[in-house]
Amino acid sequence: MPKSSRIRVVLVGGSGYAGFEAIRWLLRHPNAELVGVFGPASELGPMDGFYPLLSKTVALAQELFTPDKVAATQADLVMLCVPHKVAMSYVPALRQAGLRVIDWSADYRLADARVYEKWYCPHTDPAGLAEAVYGLPEYFAEQIKSATLVANPGCYPTCAVLALAPVLRAGLIQPEGIVINAITGMSGAGRSASLRDHYPERNENFEPYGVGNHRHSPEIEQTLTKITGKQVSVLFQPHLCPMDRGMLCSIYAEPTGKGVTAADVTTTLQAAYAKAPFVRVRTGLLPATKHVAGTNFCDIAAEAAKGKVILFSALDNLIKGASGQAIQNMNLMFGLDETTGLY
Ligand SMILES: NC(=O)c1ccc[n+]([C@@H]2O[C@H](COP(=O)([O-])OP(=O)(O)OC[C@H]3O[C@@H](n4cnc5c(N)ncnc54)[C@H](OP(=O)(O)O)[C@@H]3O)[C@@H](O)[C@H]2O)c1
Repeated sequence: MPKSSRIRVVLVGGSGYAGFEAIRWLLRHPNAELVGVFGPASELGPMDGFYPLLSKTVALAQELFTPDKVAATQADLVMLCVPHKVAMSYVPALRQAGLRVIDWSADYRLADARVYEKWYCPHTDPAGLAEAVYGLPEYFAEQIKSATLVANPGCYPTCAVLALAPVLRAGLIQPEGIVINAITGMSGAGRSASLRDHYPERNENFEPYGVGNHRHSPEIEQTLTKITGKQVSVLFQPHLCPMDRGMLCSIYAEPTGKGVTAADVTTTLQAAYAKAPFVRVRTGLLPATKHVAGTNFCDIAAEAAKGKVILFSALDNLIKGASGQAIQNMNLMFGLDETTGLY
């Protein structure tokens, strides 16, 4: 339970793209209050200096992160909106100070440190890793409620797993040979500029990247395997799309029998998400990034063609893929309805 009537929230890395979105959700949240924003020495100052849109709404300045300063805010929850490796260097001290944490990076998403180390870097907090709960509310709500450390899922894994999990669990598609074709808007890469993201490079330019080696592949496989109890293997192919935000997956899978129809898959998805407030199973309308932009929804639809089952899913990478999902997790952690302050 929070120390006062409202959940006191601190953001670390609040000047980043996903952190900025969290600020906007927290401003409208009836039971939460932003009490501090912290960042690195290179990124300090009033929040409306980073985002002029926040003038006259957020008086806070981003201060230099130290665990002591965060603890002094009397926060109930810290959201770490910082890159991987940085997050796990902060988590132990924050937890020692008695703070609950939602980490948005990959540092606590892969349960096996050896898998993490294969895809990222040496893991420096195995104790935290052993306790972390994977924060996909549609599947792990009960564990999230009592968690002290939640690993907020990646945007691509959220989009792909929500579409695939019920269909795999129902045995309608094979757990191998699944192809996930995905696109992301450019905010998925964060706020730091690189040549690849420079306007002349990106404008009017749609291209694949990370062929066979994107770091979200093991997270997708781990999560689907955990949810379905089957060893799941996917070929995940991401693409960069010249739009600010949004994510779309087109997923191709082999049906387990000739009789599997799009209607069977749709019925299975509808049953799985009947009580999930932020998953919409679409019929007669395929998911599109504009249908979910600015919201915490993930839209899903099923089709069948040329002997394959095809699943489509779309979400806003900065919201259901990051900040909105984190608020949904926060709501569960503090005993609120998971939809509080979200739409
Ligand atoms: N963008 C998305 O769609 C998305 C989706 C899902 C998950 N995530 C995850 O969410 C986290 C934030 O992503 P983002 O897109 O908002 O990235 P971002 O725009 O690059 O923001 C990251 C923020 O963290 C700050 N930071 C970097 N090193 C730090 C340190 N040592 N101490 C404190 N703050 C530090 C950055 O400051 P500087 O600018 O000075 O480096 C920046 O303000 C990442 O872990 C990312 O993987 C993002």
